[in-house]
Amino acid sequence: MKVFLFSLVTFIAVSCKDRADSYLHEGKAVSTAIPVFNVGNVSVDSFVNSWDLDIRPDGAGLPPGEATPLIGQPVFEQKCATCHGATGREGPMNVLVSTDTTATAVKGIGNYWPYATTLFDYIRRAMPYQSPGSLSNDEVYALTAWLLFQNKLINDTFKLNRISLPDIEMPARKNFIKDDRTGGPVIR
Ligand code: HEC
Repeated sequence: MKVFLFSLVTFIAVSCKDRADSYLHEGKAVSTAIPVFNVGNVSVDSFVNSWDLDIRPDGAGLPPGEATPLIGQPVFEQKCATCHGATGREGPMNVLVSTDTTATAVKGIGNYWPYATTLFDYIRRAMPYQSPGSLSNDEVYALTAWLLFQNKLINDTFKLNRISLPDIEMPARKNFIKDDRTGGPVIR
C-alpha cells in the first residue's frame, strides 16, 4: 500500500507541469500554473464519430441508405420479435404499434412520437437491447420503415431514406406546442 501511495504521489508530482507564469502579489510570487496530468488518450475521429450520431427532427445527421417496409419485416422477425412480438404489438417488452389516439390508449410511436426521425435515431443507438450499435444503416432504415408501416404512416412500397424520412408527419406532432414562455410575470 505504502509503495502504491508513494508511486501515485510521485506520478502526480512528475505529471504536473507548470504551464503558465506566476505573478507578484505584495512581493510574493503567486503561481497561475495549470496542472497537466498526462492521463487519458487523445481522441481519434473514429471514436468521436461513433458517439456523434444524433439525428435531429429535421433529418440533419441522417446517413445514406434506403429501404422499404417489406425489407424490414424479416430483420424485425430475426432481431426484434423475441422482445416486441412478431408484429410489434405482442410484447413482452414495449408495444411498438399504437394507432389508437383515444386519451387512455398506451402511448407509443404512432400516437405519441412527434418526429419520425427519432425512430431511426433510437433504433440505431439503442436497439436491439442486448447489442446496441450492431445494426447497419440500411437495416435501421428497413426497421424504421417496417415500424412506420405497421403504425399506418406509410404504405408497404414506400422508399425510406434521408430525404423522405423527415417529410413524414407524425399524427402526434400537432399535440406538442413550442414552449415560447419568456419567464417573469407571464409565468404563473
Ligand atoms: C432483448 C429485448 C429486446 C430486443 C431484442 C429489442 N428490444 Fe426494443 N426495447 C426493449 C426494451 C426493454 C425497451 C424499453 C427500453 C427503455 O424504456 O429504456 C425497448 C424499446 C424499444 C423502442 C422504444 C419504444 C417506445 O415507444 O418507447 C423501440 C422503437 C424499439 N425498442 C425497437 C426495437 C427494434 C427495432 C429492435 C430490433 C432491432 C428491438 N427493439 C429489439 C427490448 C428489446
